[in-house]
Amino acid sequence: MILEVKNLAKYYPLERGIFKTHAGFIKAVDGVSFCLHEGEILGIVGESGCGKSTLAKLLLKLIEPTGGEITFWPPVLRLRLDAGIVFQDPLLSLDPRMRIRDILREPLLAQRKNADGKKVSELLAEVGLDTSILRRFPSQVSGGQRQRVCIARSLATHPKLLILDEALSSLDTITQKHILELLTRLQSRLKLTYIFISHNIAVVKRIASRVIVMLEGKIVEQGSVDAVFSHPQAVYTKKLLEAAR
Ligand SMILES: Nc1ncnc2c1ncn2[C@@H]1O[C@H](COP(=O)(O)OP(=O)(O)OP(=O)(O)O)[C@@H](O)[C@H]1O
Ligand SMILES: [Mg+2]
Repeated sequence: MILEVKNLAKYYPLERGIFKTHAGFIKAVDGVSFCLHEGEILGIVGESGCGKSTLAKLLLKLIEPTGGEITFWPPVLRLRLDAGIVFQDPLLSLDPRMRIRDILREPLLAQRKNADGKKVSELLAEVGLDTSILRRFPSQVSGGQRQRVCIARSLATHPKLLILDEALSSLDTITQKHILELLTRLQSRLKLTYIFISHNIAVVKRIASRVIVMLEGKIVEQGSVDAVFSHPQAVYTKKLLEAAR
């Protein structure tokens, strides 16, 4: 096991009106428990606003939980160094003023690792990009190439766990397919563990082995992709699958 989550919660205060009076909480994540095994691809599905990104941010300790526990195994697994994240919009997650070369060198330098040209070229080759883009800025490459840059950047520090939050959603279907193949290849070659967040059921079906279905901050169903998608138990999962048809 690489990760155990127990009763995790994140509540945001809900404020109303111009005086910002306290009006309860948004329970973005509410009593979530699950395990993640090494080398596994866990899909997380659910409609917009159900708490998927909040869960990802909690796991990476980018935000503080309201309650619950997150345990990494071994417990010393240095988060942020050993876990990486790839977001939906690569243009927003890459500094527009930095050249691709510097974007890729940054995480290496932060860890005082070798960040020479050879290392950067290796990273690029890993995600199927050519060194000709190194001098360009993020706005000067295509959306698919930008997402590959984001993946390369998160792989730079050799994380064990990669969280992909709607990582394919901004791409066309052909590019999605290529990036999906790239992720599958990297996962088996580098023995990575993925949390793959998406509202696209078809994509999750293709890549994940196990899946969690979320609704309003809670897990309504979890199990193997085959079991959950072929024989859904929860009413909500049935609705979600119906809507995806
Ligand atoms: N910083 C914040 N302050 C207040 N409310 C927030 C904050 N971040 C998220 N929320 C709320 O928490 C809920 C869950 O948001 P979250 O971004 O986790 O959803 P999501 O499942 O990732 O949705 P999507 O599929 O659209 O990305 C939403 O109601 C959202 O408005
Ligand atoms: Mg989200």
